[in-house]
Amino acid sequence: MASFYLWLMCLCWMIVLGHGILEAEASHRVYRNLASLQPASPSQTYRTSYHFQPPKNWMNDPNGPTVYKGLYHLFYQYNPLGPDWGNIVWAHSTSKDLINWNPHKAAIFPSQKGDVNGCWSGSTTMLRGENPAILYTGIDPKNQQVQNLAVPRNLSDPYLIEWVKSPYNPLMTPTPENKINSSSFRDPTTAWLGPDGRWRVIVGNKLNRRGKALLYRSKDFVRWTKAQHPLYSIQGTGMWECPDFYPVSSSPIGLDTSTIGEGVKHVLKVSLDDTKHDQYAIGTYVHSKDVFVPNAGAAEKFSGLRYDYGKFYASKTFYDSLKKRRILWGWINESLSREDYIAQGWSGVQAIPRLIWLDKSGKQLVQWPISEIETLRQKKVGYPLTLLKSGSTLEVQGIKAAQADVDVSFQVASQLEQADALDPSWTDPQLLCSQKGASVRGGTGPFGLKVLASKDLQEYTAVFFRIFKARNKYVVLMCSDQSRSSLNEKPDKTTYGAFLDVDPLHEELSLRSLIDHSIVESFGGKGKACITSRVYPTKALGNEARLYVFNYGKANVAISSMNAWTMKNASINRKN
Ligand SMILES: *[C@@H]1O[C@H](CO)[C@@H](O)[C@H](O)[C@H]1NC(C)=O
Ligand SMILES: *[C@@H]1O[C@H](CO)[C@@H](O)[C@H](O)[C@H]1NC(C)=O
Ligand SMILES: *[C@@H]1O[C@H](CO)[C@@H](O)[C@H](O)[C@H]1NC(C)=O
Ligand SMILES: *[C@@H]1O[C@H](CO)[C@@H](O)[C@H](O)[C@H]1NC(C)=O
Repeated sequence: MASFYLWLMCLCWMIVLGHGILEAEASHRVYRNLASLQPASPSQTYRTSYHFQPPKNWMNDPNGPTVYKGLYHLFYQYNPLGPDWGNIVWAHSTSKDLINWNPHKAAIFPSQKGDVNGCWSGSTTMLRGENPAILYTGIDPKNQQVQNLAVPRNLSDPYLIEWVKSPYNPLMTPTPENKINSSSFRDPTTAWLGPDGRWRVIVGNKLNRRGKALLYRSKDFVRWTKAQHPLYSIQGTGMWECPDFYPVSSSPIGLDTSTIGEGVKHVLKVSLDDTKHDQYAIGTYVHSKDVFVPNAGAAEKFSGLRYDYGKFYASKTFYDSLKKRRILWGWINESLSREDYIAQGWSGVQAIPRLIWLDKSGKQLVQWPISEIETLRQKKVGYPLTLLKSGSTLEVQGIKAAQADVDVSFQVASQLEQADALDPSWTDPQLLCSQKGASVRGGTGPFGLKVLASKDLQEYTAVFFRIFKARNKYVVLMCSDQSRSSLNEKPDKTTYGAFLDVDPLHEELSLRSLIDHSIVESFGGKGKACITSRVYPTKALGNEARLYVFNYGKANVAISSMNAWTMKNASINRKN
């Protein structure tokens, strides 16, 4: 019913507003001052070979990912006029495989009162009958954040090139009555349909320091009513950007966003503006009350669960109805100074899309690069069981180490008596990794990979494990140490870390890293902890980059298997 109504409305706008749209397009604001920021041609030094990026300029949040008539769509926050944030539009690309992408013209750009000062983040919802609809944040003439709707002009066009905005925009606005802070009201999620036939959507918000997922309901997707209570809120977190709310089960088979029922858990993710971390909680969606109840122990401040313990922000999932899976997109920003990324002529990369599902333990999510990425694997180098003696470094030869996929598993069960004791006060994995970096010798570990390394090992990024003995178990720390990643002093080289829920006494310790010139995405314990880093080597560039496996612990460790592949270039947003 809702979709039929919307379809009618859509036709209606086209007829009534045909002229209005053109008029609005003509008023698309341009900020010429930013055009002058563009260098003659963007620097290629740190560009990637298989990660999603536009040919130049600024990119931030992934927006409205979806699949329609067999084609994947990705929209993203983009400044068409320069490499710094500003003039934000929804740029648009499509793909058959989520790896190779074709660029299209911007799908949504300022053209209405409700978005004249910018078209910020939002999501796509598939209304009944495969009708996509986008809800997004617009910045109005008073610089207030409001929520708008756009639908495709031509549903027969699988590329969905043209989008038509609702004449009823804005659909959700801050008012003195609803006490919504007009500077902190943004990023609508994909909506879900309740058993009562009404759509629900959440929008990020804060009141004073309380972060909130404001809930709105609608029968027709056009007239939205704010619910009395937010879906969920937490005191003291600051603004919740880019919320995401979806069902999961402990199988990589994904669930449509409206799924509820036995065995289904829900995930609430927010992007914390204060810390720039994407945190999540697993819990139950009590649909009779329209509230989210986190699992016991998971409540306060999202208890530290993060999608990625490195750089990964403003992420968004979508349900891929083609392959019945839930896929996660996330934005990885530069670690360069503003001045340096402007000089580079571009800024921002999207992480490789990841499959996301609930771990068997029910306590956390697991992520794994989509299998399509394996079609880029070219030359394979494999190692049989190898002993990696204490203090040794082994070069992985025969691949192009600047663009590679490497998957290694370690066995340490027989070496655990040498593990150092864990001080109970060591509860911050990032701090622990920065204090005990790759060049600090331990009992069992550090061992792992040195990626984007120069031959003389003056430069490298170390992704590694270190094992500690706690009271009645072993604790695995996973680190990505950027302190030696570049001879250039200027980039941010913060070391990242996570505790990994793997029992090294009974399980192998696996590490997969996707290496792509200036980006390293690492998956520990088959995706139980992910760490993404941006690095800017000065020597380990192109053919000069090397890949090593190392063990700087006192104990020997065994490599039970290791495979590494050179990755082919993907075709990403090349202009024809
Ligand atoms: C592949 O991508 C890398 C990194 O952007 C680039 O340096 C190289 O020229 C590309 N190779 C081809 C054949 O396009
Ligand atoms: C709609 O899209 C289809 C498929 O691309 C195309 O053949 C048709 O001409 C389009 N219709 C309009 C009115 O643009
Ligand atoms: C509203 O949000 C803005 C932006 O974060 C903040 O500066 C301001 O203090 C907020 N106002 C209130 C009343 O919370
Ligand atoms: C972008 O990178 C800078 C420098 O590494 C960091 O301080 C900042 O928090 C990042 N922003 C986001 C949104 O990740």
